[in-house]
Amino acid sequence: MLSKSQARTFFLGGTGVFAAIFLALTVDSMKRIPALTHADQLTESVVRGKRLWEANNCMGCHTLFGEGAYYAPELTQVVERRGKPWIRLFLKDPEKMFPGERRMVNYRFTDAQTEDVIAFLDWCGHVNLQGFPPKPPLRDLLRPAAVTASGTAASQPELFRTICIACHSVGGVGGVVGPALDEVYRRKTRDEMLVWIADPQKLKPGTPMPVIEMTDAQRAEIVDYLLDLAGRTPPPANGRPTPKTPAEVYE
Ligand code: HEC
Ligand code: HEC
Repeated sequence: MLSKSQARTFFLGGTGVFAAIFLALTVDSMKRIPALTHADQLTESVVRGKRLWEANNCMGCHTLFGEGAYYAPELTQVVERRGKPWIRLFLKDPEKMFPGERRMVNYRFTDAQTEDVIAFLDWCGHVNLQGFPPKPPLRDLLRPAAVTASGTAASQPELFRTICIACHSVGGVGGVVGPALDEVYRRKTRDEMLVWIADPQKLKPGTPMPVIEMTDAQRAEIVDYLLDLAGRTPPPANGRPTPKTPAEVYE
């Protein structure tokens, strides 16, 4: 049995020791923040991007680090997920990337502002959040082809892998806004493809496919890639290759 004074000493001593431990841990956590957030990479562009993010109330619809509204996608790792070229095109005209079902405002950012917003989102994507956001269980299925480790994606020109694949699929991987491109070489000649990709509206007014800025060399590289698909194992005869089942993806 403790006497009254022993109990008091025990209480005060214990409280003191644990308060000190708690304070030390708090100071330690605070000290780690610059390293965890890579504070040294906070460039002026990142800071301007953050101001644009606040001034335009992006959090009214989006979450960042899990904070914000749940109307629109979580943006913490959007740069890793979508790639800069895609985000650049999307911010310039959100409707282009989701024809007919656009819900995001066009902020009419200047090119410099767009780069600032992307720099900010990129910085956010590199903050060490100790596992947030959690990877969804079917992440390999949901990932854009841009980051799948499959050989298909690896052989694609960069612009194709980051932008075209948002709407088109090859080998069953990619978007479904436009037709699968596995056998486009049967439907279009090299020249037709070059003209189509440069200005789809010219060939088919009103088509949802956007004009995507690129150099002639990039366009030629993409068309060569699409023509090269002729040398591959053909997809199933029904035209659209069968999407992968979860079992196949996890193989
Ligand atoms: C009124 C609601 C709203 C606001 C405000 C808003 N967004 Fe969006 N955003 C959306 C929706 C909805 C989508 C999903 C695509 C679509 O349907 O257009 C989206 C998609 C995105 C994407 C692509 C995400 C992905 O994973 O594909 C980015 C990047 C983005 N928004 C950035 C921003 C930035 C930066 C701001 C502020 C300048 C902003 N958004 C403000 C509604 C909003
Ligand atoms: C926002 C969605 C979207 C993006 C991004 C997109 N496309 Fe398309 N694309 C379409 C749609 C939709 C069609 C079908 C056009 C139609 O018939 O009106 C199409 C058609 C095509 C065709 C003709 C297909 C055929 O069967 O004849 C080719 C080739 C093509 N796209 C290549 C590309 C390339 C290369 C890129 C990237 C540089 C790209 N597309 C990016 C939506 C898109």
